[in-house]
Parts: sequence; structure tokens; C-alpha cells
Amino acid sequence: MKKAPIIENLLNHGHNNPFSGHTPGHKGGQIIPPLLEKNWPREIWQFDLTEIENMDNLHNPTGCIREAQRMTAELFNAKSSYFLVNGTSVGIQAAILALAYQSPIFVPRNVHKSVYSGLILADAQPVYLPVTYDKNWGFPLGIEPETLKHWIEKYPHCKTLIITNPTYQGLSYKIEEIMAVALDHGLKVIIDEAHGSHLALHKDLPPSALSLGAHIVIQSWHKTLPVLTQASVLHLGKNYSGPDISQYLKLLQTTSPSYLLLASLDGCRAFLADNISELIDEKIIKIKKIREDISSLSNIKMFQAPDRAYKTDPFKLCLSSPKVSGYQLAELLRERFGIYPEMAEERYCLIILAVVHDQRFLERLWKALKAIDDELEQYSPYPFLPVGEQDFIPQTKMLIREAFFRPKERVILEKALGRTAGDFLIKYPPGIPLVVPGEVIDEAVFQTLQNSISEYKIEDGISVVIE
Ligand SMILES: Cc1ncc(COP(=O)(O)O)c(C=O)c1O
Repeated sequence: MKKAPIIENLLNHGHNNPFSGHTPGHKGGQIIPPLLEKNWPREIWQFDLTEIENMDNLHNPTGCIREAQRMTAELFNAKSSYFLVNGTSVGIQAAILALAYQSPIFVPRNVHKSVYSGLILADAQPVYLPVTYDKNWGFPLGIEPETLKHWIEKYPHCKTLIITNPTYQGLSYKIEEIMAVALDHGLKVIIDEAHGSHLALHKDLPPSALSLGAHIVIQSWHKTLPVLTQASVLHLGKNYSGPDISQYLKLLQTTSPSYLLLASLDGCRAFLADNISELIDEKIIKIKKIREDISSLSNIKMFQAPDRAYKTDPFKLCLSSPKVSGYQLAELLRERFGIYPEMAEERYCLIILAVVHDQRFLERLWKALKAIDDELEQYSPYPFLPVGEQDFIPQTKMLIREAFFRPKERVILEKALGRTAGDFLIKYPPGIPLVVPGEVIDEAVFQTLQNSISEYKIEDGISVVIE
């Protein structure tokens, strides 16, 4: 049996001294723009093949792609797995098209924007669910199981749920209880596991939703595993029964998938299948040590799960300081130590660690944090604003798809009161939208906007639907 079928086919093709009479136009690396020729290895171009004889077809795989996907499903204990070359976004959209076309779907407010795009494409009828925040850190955790139960009773005809687990910050919030409620009530569950591709690989990590009975799970391998950016995977759970998901992926994915991306998924899967658990074991021990060291600092804090309701991903470090904002902390790491965090918000910055190896990075990070901690000693406390928790969801006037396609105009805030929003109003990505297209800019929304005009970037007006 082949160990990595896509990679092996690519290599075999190279051994035949092929002459390219096909796409792409760089002809197997014979024509390379000079600036790239100097900087990119020739092999990159040679591996950048297309769907020619002996390779396979992503839309209708019968050869190496099919075999590589089958091996992926086996490793992840899925019914079947599909390689995605346009990130998790495309998998989320396909999943919503498959399970919520013109029908209701429970959508917690903290979902990624690709979910909202999926709702528009599928003309779905979102039933938005309020989410719980961590008030100290200012980030959303997810929905409460009790809230889900309540909304299921209120909307018994809604049979699909989509949730993000883990969150961007690496938190799995009450996921076992939520899954139990959803499955007990016969919901089909789509899990956006963009940030949790590695969870299934080790027993000490929060559980992957596949093991909890989710029907469709989509993972951005490129976020936490060693693959190229955009390479993601959609898994169907063993209990999935529903439309053929490949029909929707065909609708949305390119007909010219990059074999660089596909080969990176194939190579990664082979790597994961080879004793990955032992490598992760070693890494978790090292991370435990740096986490303990960070906890001993005086001016830098790290997010720790306050109780058993939260499970945290050890590879995510949420760092904050009472002396500087998250933006400033990220800037210090970047400017002084060349360490580029994943993202920063007012209260924290987020660092994603590799799931294996990178001892040198851990040492460099620790030195940087220690030096910054010493320097911050002289600073006075930073005047953090209280975390604003949105405790209301505006009334829906029209479905998000309808609002999206309707003509719109831009008006000043005072004229927007009572109108239907034509666009999202979000403080800062990846924040939770205050308003999504189709919702009414009512008094509560108006007041919130009035208090934070610059944060919502509405100095130039607000897009509203012309009715
Ligand atoms: C929670 C969440 N879901 C989905 C996505 C989309 O993933 P991708 O970038 O792989 O399309 C992201 C990307 O940042 C995300 O943070």
C-alpha cells in the first residue's frame, strides 16, 4: 500500500522526464519570473501539477486523491473525508447548503463570517443563539446547553445546529453537554473545527467533535498542522446521513485544485499516522513547563480554564498584561523580539504553538516574555475599558440573503434608526456582529452604536436596505 498516494504519484510523474503540454503556464518550472526564480526552489514549480493522466480529479476522485482521502477518514475515524483547497470556509458553506438549504438552522452569534456566507448562499433561515462571554478576557465562549434546550423547545422545526469548537482562543466550552442536548433532540450538527484539527490526535487534548457524534466536521489543517495555507479537510461523521456532500463541494471548489495543497494534506496525514501521539506527548510536557513559567510572571497573565466547563487547547497561549493593551503586548513581541503573534485585541494577544518540535521557539518566547515582564514593572496600570457584552439580538426584518441582494444606501447613524441593516456591524474582526444584514437597527442597536462610533467604523455612515 502506498504511504502517501498523492505525493508518490507526483514523484513518479517527475521521474518520467515529462514535457508539459498542459496547464499551468510555467510548464513544470521551465518559465519562472526572475524574482521568483531566485527565491523559490524549482521543485515547487515541478510539483505544481494539474489534473493530468495519472493524477486524479478532486471533483470526481478515482485514484490517488480518493485513496488519500480514504486514509484520512480511517485515521480520523470518519465515515469519509474530503480535501478542501479553499480553506474551511468552503467546507462550512457546503455543509450549510447540504443541511440547511432554505430551512432553519441554529447559529450562535460568535460564528465565523464563512458561516454567514453559507447562510446567504443556502438561503437558510438562521435562528440566532446568544453566547456567553468571559468577562475578564472579553472573548466569547459559546452557547450554554440550557440555552440550546430552550431554543429547541421554542423552534421545534429547526433541525440543524452549527457551532464553533474550539474557539479561536482554543477553548472548548461545554462541548460534551451541548452535543448531548443536540443529539438527544435529533439535531444534525455541523462543527466548525477550524482551530481543532489536531484535537483527535492526542488523548489529553479537548475532544474532537467527531468522537462526540457530530455529523459534519470541518478542520483548517493549515491553522495548527504542518500543511500549506488554505489546505483543509471536511469529515463526515460515522452517523452522517443526508445529501451527498461532494455535490456541494463541486459547486464551490475550483476545477484546478493546487496539487501543492493536496500533497501537503497527503504528506501531513502520513506524518500524523506515524507516532504523532508520542511527539505530541513530548511537546505537551514542554508546553506545561512554559505555561508554569509564564504563570510565575508578575506583569503578564495567561488565560487558564477557571473551571471544568472549559477545556483549553495547550497549544494556544492567550497572554495579557494589566500594564499594556493586547495590541501593545503583541507589538513588543514583534518589534523587539521578532515574534509575530496570531492576533491581538484590546485585552490580550494570542500565540499559536506548533503541535510538535520547535523547542527553539519556546526558548525564544520565554526569554522575550521574561524581558517584557521586567520592563513592564515600571509601567502604570493600563486604563482598560469594561468589556461590553451584547445581551440582545436585534429583530430580523428579512432573511440575510434577501438583505444581501437588495439595493442599499448609506445613511448617517441618526437616519438609520428603524431601518434594516444592509451590512454587518462588527467592532473588530473576529468580533461578534452587533447586527447582521436583515436585522433592524432598533433603539438598543442605535444606543450601542452611538457610544462607539469609531469602534464600529461608521463615521462614513451605515449601509441600510432600500425598502
Ligand atoms: C472559527 C473559524 N472558522 C472558520 C474559519 C475559516 O477557515 P479558513 O481560513 O480555513 O477558510 C476561520 C478562519 O480564521 C475561523 O477562525
